[in-house]
Amino acid sequence: MRMSDWKDRMNVLLKRKGWDIKDWSRATGLNQWQLESLMEMDLSEMDEESLESIYEQAKIAKLDKCLLRFDSPIMIAVWAHKGGMGKSTVVTNLSYELSQRGYNVLAVDTDSQSDMSSVLFPDYLEQPDISFYNAFLGQEDFKEEGYIMHTEYTGIDVVAGSAECEALEGALCMLSDKIRNKMWKKCLRSVREENYYDFIIVDMDKTAGVMNKTIFGEADYVLAPIESSMFGIKAVPPTLAQIEEMGETNPKLKLLGFLFNKVDLRKKAAMADNSTLVEQIAPEYTFKTFIKNDANVDNSQKEHMPIGYYNSRSPASRQMAEFTDEAIERIRKDQKERRE
Ligand SMILES: Nc1ncnc2c1ncn2[C@@H]1O[C@H](COP(=O)(O)OP(=O)(O)OP(=O)(O)O)[C@@H](O)[C@H]1O
Ligand SMILES: [Mg+2]
Repeated sequence: MRMSDWKDRMNVLLKRKGWDIKDWSRATGLNQWQLESLMEMDLSEMDEESLESIYEQAKIAKLDKCLLRFDSPIMIAVWAHKGGMGKSTVVTNLSYELSQRGYNVLAVDTDSQSDMSSVLFPDYLEQPDISFYNAFLGQEDFKEEGYIMHTEYTGIDVVAGSAECEALEGALCMLSDKIRNKMWKKCLRSVREENYYDFIIVDMDKTAGVMNKTIFGEADYVLAPIESSMFGIKAVPPTLAQIEEMGETNPKLKLLGFLFNKVDLRKKAAMADNSTLVEQIAPEYTFKTFIKNDANVDNSQKEHMPIGYYNSRSPASRQMAEFTDEAIERIRKDQKERRE
C-alpha cells in the first residue's frame, strides 16, 4: 500500500462518517494531537500494520453524540468573593469528572497558593519558571511556549501556579487596560485555535482585583462554590454584582451557578433555608446537587489525587459526579439558547 493511499482512504472514511479529527479522537480514544500529526507527517517510515489497525479501529468506532462540541474551549472561572469555600477543590474535581466523561480539560492555576496544582500536578515545584505567572506576565502562548503540563490523568492538562502569582496584582496595576485586556488572548491563542480542550477551568483567589477581572473578561461562566452558612450566603450578592459589572466588558459572561459545598447533613434545616435564600437572591442559579462535608476530600488532597480517583464511592465523589452532570446539562442548555 502506498502511504499516501492510507491518508486518502482515511480522509474518505472521515468524510463518510462526517467526522473531523476531534470526532475521530473522541470515538477511538486516540490522542487528537497524535492523529493530527499523523495526517500531516510523512508516513514512509510507519509500519503498515499499525496504520491499518488505526484505520480499522476508526471504521468500527462509534461517536458518543452526547458529548458537547464547542467552537472553542468553554472557559469557567471558579470564584466566590470569600476564601476557603472550595474553589480549588471544585476546580480539581470538576476537571477530573469532565475528563472521565471524555472531555479534554485545561486547568489553569492563577492562585499563589497553587492548591489545585499541588493535587493535579504535584511536580509543579520542580519547574518554578514554567508557571502561570511567567506565561501571563510575559504574554506567552501557553501551548507554543511549553507552559502546558500533562498530568497523569488522561484528558487533564495544567498550567501550574506559583507563589509569585501573589505579585501579579501589583504588576497588572502598572499596565494599561488595553494591555491587560490582551494578555489572556495572547496566552490562549493556540489553545483556542486548536480547539483540543473542551473546557478551560480557572482556579482563582477570592479577591475582586484587576487580576481576577482579566479572567472574568475572557470567561464564559463563573461557578461559585459557597458554604451553607451565614458568611457563605453573604458572599452571594457581591459575586452577582461582580458578574453584572463585568457584563459591560464581557457580555458573554454568565453565572453558571452557586454550588453548596461542605454541607453538614446534621444541619439539614439550615441548608434548606440557605438554599431557599440563595434561590430568592439568584433565581434558578442554585445547583440541585450539593457536596457534603466529607473527610475523604482532605484525605484525597493529602494523597495529591482528585477524590473520584482516590475513592470513587465516597459521598463527596458521587456528589461531584452528579454535580458535573448537572453543570454539563446547564451548559448544553445555555449554549443552545445562545445559538438560537
Ligand atoms: N466537601 C468538602 N468536605 C470536606 N472538606 C472540604 C470540602 N471541600 C473543601 N474542603 C476543604 O476545605 C478547605 C478549603 O477548600 P479549598 O482550598 O478548595 O477552598 P478555596 O476556596 O480554594 O480556598 P482559598 O480561598 O484559600 O483558595 C480545604 O482544606 C479542603 O480540603
Ligand atoms: Mg483555592
